[in-house]
Amino acid sequence: MKRILLITLCLLVSLACMAQTKGPIRLQTPSTELVLNAWEGRDLQIAYFGARLSDVDFQNLRHSGVRSHSAYPSYGNWCAGETALGVTHANGSLVTDLGIVSVETVQEENASVTRIRMKEKLFPFYVTVCYRVYNDVDMIETWSEIENQEKKPVTLTRFDSGFLPVSYGNTWVSHLYGNWANEGRVAQEPLEQGMKVIKNKDGARNSHSAHAEVMLSLDGKPQENAGRVIGAALCYSGNYEIRIDTEGEWHRFFAGINPDNSYYKLEKGETFITPALAITYSNEGLSGASRNFHRWGRKYMLANGDKERKILLNSWEGVYFNINEPGMDKMMEDIAYMGGELFVMDDGWFGEKYPRLTDNSSLGDWKVDRNKLPNGIGWLVEQADKHGIRFGIWIEPEMTNTTSELYEKHPDWVVNDPERHLSTGRGGTQLVLDLGNPEVQDFVFSIVDDLMTENPKIDYIKWDANMGIQSHGSHYLTMDKQSHLYIEYHRGFAKVCERIRAKYPDLTIQACASGGGRANWGVLPWFDEFWVSDNTDALQRIHMQWGTSYFFPAITMASHISATPNHTVFRTTSLKYRIDVAMSGRLGMEIQPRNMTQEERDLCRKAIAEYKEIRPVVQFGDIYRLKSPFEGEPFASMMYCSPEKDKAVFYWWKTETFHGQHFPKVKMAGLDPDKVYKVRELNRIDRRPLSCEGKTFTGRFLMETGLAMPMKHIVDYNRQDDWSSRVLYLEAQ
Ligand code: DGJ
Repeated sequence: MKRILLITLCLLVSLACMAQTKGPIRLQTPSTELVLNAWEGRDLQIAYFGARLSDVDFQNLRHSGVRSHSAYPSYGNWCAGETALGVTHANGSLVTDLGIVSVETVQEENASVTRIRMKEKLFPFYVTVCYRVYNDVDMIETWSEIENQEKKPVTLTRFDSGFLPVSYGNTWVSHLYGNWANEGRVAQEPLEQGMKVIKNKDGARNSHSAHAEVMLSLDGKPQENAGRVIGAALCYSGNYEIRIDTEGEWHRFFAGINPDNSYYKLEKGETFITPALAITYSNEGLSGASRNFHRWGRKYMLANGDKERKILLNSWEGVYFNINEPGMDKMMEDIAYMGGELFVMDDGWFGEKYPRLTDNSSLGDWKVDRNKLPNGIGWLVEQADKHGIRFGIWIEPEMTNTTSELYEKHPDWVVNDPERHLSTGRGGTQLVLDLGNPEVQDFVFSIVDDLMTENPKIDYIKWDANMGIQSHGSHYLTMDKQSHLYIEYHRGFAKVCERIRAKYPDLTIQACASGGGRANWGVLPWFDEFWVSDNTDALQRIHMQWGTSYFFPAITMASHISATPNHTVFRTTSLKYRIDVAMSGRLGMEIQPRNMTQEERDLCRKAIAEYKEIRPVVQFGDIYRLKSPFEGEPFASMMYCSPEKDKAVFYWWKTETFHGQHFPKVKMAGLDPDKVYKVRELNRIDRRPLSCEGKTFTGRFLMETGLAMPMKHIVDYNRQDDWSSRVLYLEAQ
């Protein structure tokens, strides 16, 4: 939606539009620069990407010994190399040889968009490579627009969003991997000769197993707060492929829609627009690149990125499908007592003919189950009002079950080869709706629209998606376009989301997909946050949230306090530890408060009050990761600093628990060396305060020396040691 606003703005407030067909082009953000060579009739070239250049260095760039590279390599003239574009032209030719015909730059409010249009030398086939360059954040977005004016359709066999050449060196790639309940694990490896491929082919959800974002550390083994880093994020909700081809003197980086089983028939007169690839550069290590992603993301990508998120209780782990009126009302009363601001009723509230009692029925039948909720959603919304909180609700709009009224009525709306057996998912009956079909798009839009029209006070929607595309087949697409299935699915998804956002801009929407299956910048323009994982175990969350924070700010990461033993890993950790971890993201609860003791409820109440104090720093601050949980040491640590550096929150979590362990001091980062900060421990339960409690230290001392954490910790009123943690709030005096 923000993108649409930007484009409209760009048309309305177009400050300058210049045509230029030759010479080098400098694309500059506050601290980074991309230099292109754009000579008329020749291929567009990338000459440099990195820190901003001085004029003298720019003048002499071509004498620095570094060769420039095609900015959007196409197949046909240099067959041995990897390419960003592959086309079978109307006459069957596989060769695409592009030459620049025009360059234009359009000013937007806080960015400029440079469009370099190239024409195939023999055919009326055009590629426009675009760069949006921000003037207040260090981010450049690149994408391409591929236009067919040939006599007949052409077939696109590869259509990347962008390409970046990186000089060969001791270059390491950091990327995320995992699986269900184990999202966001960090992999770091040197780029050796050969190809590194990171990809997803789930069809609907794209960030469980791998992520469409990477960081390249250019100075050897990745460091958090030092060294040059290039970061890249593909802003797409569907299947993707990232390739880093290391050959000879170069690492060649490509990213785009995964072309596997998605070759695209581009009709005469049609233009294919790729999703954007966002690239950044920092000389302040991985954390520096993360800060660039976070600032750009909050300001330009994320839905409502400038608004604080509410503290909520979600019903799932508390009651699962066991929804009923008194139970929901009690949960609302309980979260209101603890200081929360929102209650979300998860799965299990719907289904008339087929009530949703477990996960094997009713998706698509979004009518309230009157046996469970005789007074409907309206009554719950009113009750929330009475408790002084807001109400939210779970839906899974892209899906149905074989046992549902929807499937009985529209068996042709599901993704499946019409001539083969149904391939079902969750509960043995789940199916994915064919979002490429406009009728399905209208239906999905109407689910949100009807709920909101009937209950305008609904404040939050948890939008789930628990199945990928399993059996390839669209009843809607013609047989010659079956390979468009994945692409059309995500175009349909985007259309529905645009419609929802145009009508309901202030609604908070969570992207959930069996946990963290939709943590990507492709969906976040329409979603306010994502569910990091179905695994709420605090220890594993330290790891998952660490990895996820490489690319996504805390405001996007739903992070909930849950019960013990944990429902996924069965680990028992103290409530304080669970709180101290959840408080490093968008704080919420995922628990049955009725099962908590009064002491526990009061601890949560205190924590929620304290989170409200630090919420602006956590949700809008700058991240500094200090000690990684992936390094095999017994603890992890990170912090957020306000942009003014007058407030900071420091987290310290033990990640092992042996008696007598020693913990080296952690040097803080991101503070003002000359400011004096007063230290206050949050969520304190230890009757004996830390020796730093209430004391003041300069930022310089905290960053050069750091504070020592004790060997022993009281984690609840009866136990010492165990999984323990500390959260310190630093305020400049
Ligand atoms: C999967 C989600 O990740 C959970 O949080 C929960 O909403 C369930 N679906 C409900 O079926």
